[in-house]
Amino acid sequence: MKHLLDTRELTREEAIEILDVADYMAQVKAENRTLNVLNGKTVVNLFFEDSTRTRLSFESAEKRLGAAVTNFSASGSSLSKGESLKDTAQTLKAIGADAFVIRHSASGAPQRLAEAGWTDIPVLNAGDGTHAHPTQALLDAVSLRQYKAERDGLDSPRGTDLSGMRVLIVGDILHSRVARSNLWLLHTLGAQVAFVAPPTLLPLNTASWVEEAGLEIFHDFDEAIATKPDAVMLLRIQKERMRAAYFPSAEEYTELWGLTAERFATLQAQPQPVAILHPGPMNRGLEICTEAADATNSWVLRQVSNGVALRMAVLYLLLTDGSSAKLYAGDES
Ligand code: CP
Repeated sequence: MKHLLDTRELTREEAIEILDVADYMAQVKAENRTLNVLNGKTVVNLFFEDSTRTRLSFESAEKRLGAAVTNFSASGSSLSKGESLKDTAQTLKAIGADAFVIRHSASGAPQRLAEAGWTDIPVLNAGDGTHAHPTQALLDAVSLRQYKAERDGLDSPRGTDLSGMRVLIVGDILHSRVARSNLWLLHTLGAQVAFVAPPTLLPLNTASWVEEAGLEIFHDFDEAIATKPDAVMLLRIQKERMRAAYFPSAEEYTELWGLTAERFATLQAQPQPVAILHPGPMNRGLEICTEAADATNSWVLRQVSNGVALRMAVLYLLLTDGSSAKLYAGDES
């Protein structure tokens, strides 16, 4: 694997190796240790779109691995003077870059950067348009695997997949790169994925995903809850990407599609606690109620914490010739 552009390209074995290394990195983080495996390397974070979690957790991961970090933000750069992605990337490579982490509002921008021949360094997609957000899906899988291991009384999630898990992904699927990347990854790891959304917030090509990934679709959230999911992932309503009225009002959206206090109470009545996930940022009171966001079975902040460990894992695997076996043997610390 030279780049990380989407989860669709990952095999089950590759995905499990990344998750296993992320669990190891979570331990490194919990012990407040650093690994100097990226000493002498510079990672450039190219953010052409706003971000809190992804940008700061990549930066934290890079520093914890000993890399030098260069941050590029679109605002305040020469983009305003018309500089292209190619010229920006080549300029930053000339300053010194061993890898690019890129977030862009245009779907396909990371692939273009990786494959156009402008530079020859690894590219990690930190979210592109409505297309893909592979590190978010991978950190979600780390979290779901930890939830399953804790629930089933395993000492460690290492080596396991998500088979037998039922995951509802609810809300603005149409504009969600998180939903797309999760569908491919969770299916590869053996989970059953269901999208829950009004028809206006589903992409046109979901029929092919039913074929390819066994996707289930619900237009009624209560019907989906009745199928007894193990995990419910709420998605943010992405007002900034909406060019039309996709639902009559925020109040009606919450009533029909939100995880309200009533729906949350129904989930809490299941014999096993359901994992509540949200990639953030959350619209509290719109797609998720505060009771659910702050519940003990909410994984929202553990997702963020796992994001640092997961990004340490992908940076380690892409930027070093170190194997996970070498890492576990302690040769890299
Ligand atoms: N989940 C996520 O991508 O959040 P940010 O936009 O804050 O990075």
